[in-house]
Amino acid sequence: MENTKQDLNIKMQARNMDLSYGSFKALEDINIDIYEKQVTALIGPSGSGKSTFLKSLNRMNDLVEGCKITGDITLEGKDIFNRDLDVNQLRKNVGMVFQHPNPFPMSIYDNVAYGPRTHGIKDKEKLDQLVEESLKGAAIWDEVKDDLGKNGLAVSGGQQQRICIARALAVKPDVLLMDEPTSALDPISTLKVEELIQELRKDYTIVIVTHNMQQAARVSDYTAFFYADPEKGGGHSTIIEFGETEQIFNNPNNEQTADYVAGRFG
Ligand SMILES: Nc1ncnc2c1ncn2[C@@H]1O[C@H](COP(=O)(O)OP(=O)(O)OP(=O)(O)O)[C@@H](O)[C@H]1O
Ligand SMILES: [Mg+2]
Repeated sequence: MENTKQDLNIKMQARNMDLSYGSFKALEDINIDIYEKQVTALIGPSGSGKSTFLKSLNRMNDLVEGCKITGDITLEGKDIFNRDLDVNQLRKNVGMVFQHPNPFPMSIYDNVAYGPRTHGIKDKEKLDQLVEESLKGAAIWDEVKDDLGKNGLAVSGGQQQRICIARALAVKPDVLLMDEPTSALDPISTLKVEELIQELRKDYTIVIVTHNMQQAARVSDYTAFFYADPEKGGGHSTIIEFGETEQIFNNPNNEQTADYVAGRFG
């Protein structure tokens, strides 16, 4: 937007990254710079590896048996696969919000306090403050402040998603990964989450997967287009174009990108 690339710090970076699920090579030669305090949208057809890449950024794929990654991913220049790195600390720094709102079956308060508690914060006053701050940060405080004891599942889907965003914010991450965070929401809740992303980008680095081209154009500063060349017989998906969102949408260099953002396949 108002920034130029030269002013921006690189928060995360992937270099020559490949990922296989067993013998299936899902991603091949992924290279991307994720700029600090910018919103980066990951777009591309279904099965092009957007979620796979997103989950690699906080090593959620460690939980998938047979998943193997080669190449480099760094956070502030440090290798996230380094054996000395504490993966819990990585996931604290790089938080995640999923496609379907998934509050835990417990009170709104306990949902948001969950992360800080697992990181050893027990002080009631401190927790109260974190819960309030996080719910405010997720633009849902006013709607739930008188009902913090209510079950996190007993509110609307849009409210649940903002509670999940508050839960992610409560551990004070630097990077927020969002995998299609509005695809299960109604238009008004979607708008609220999009407005929230605009607020959050002031303090956080955000990477968002979306199938909604208007949404990518509205909320993101940079866009990466994932594409699996069908001639490779499945998988081997890569980022075939990356750039400022405005350029990707208005003046793409690549024919597939042009066709995709114009809705000609998908
Ligand atoms: N756990 C897994 N084990 C084996 N293959 C997987 C696994 N997860 C994903 N895949 C495969 O990896 C490829 C990329 O999947 P991924 O879910 O990352 O795509 P996507 O771009 O997020 O798609 P969508 O837009 O439908 O969410 C697909 O071919 C998929 O079938
Ligand atoms: Mg996906």
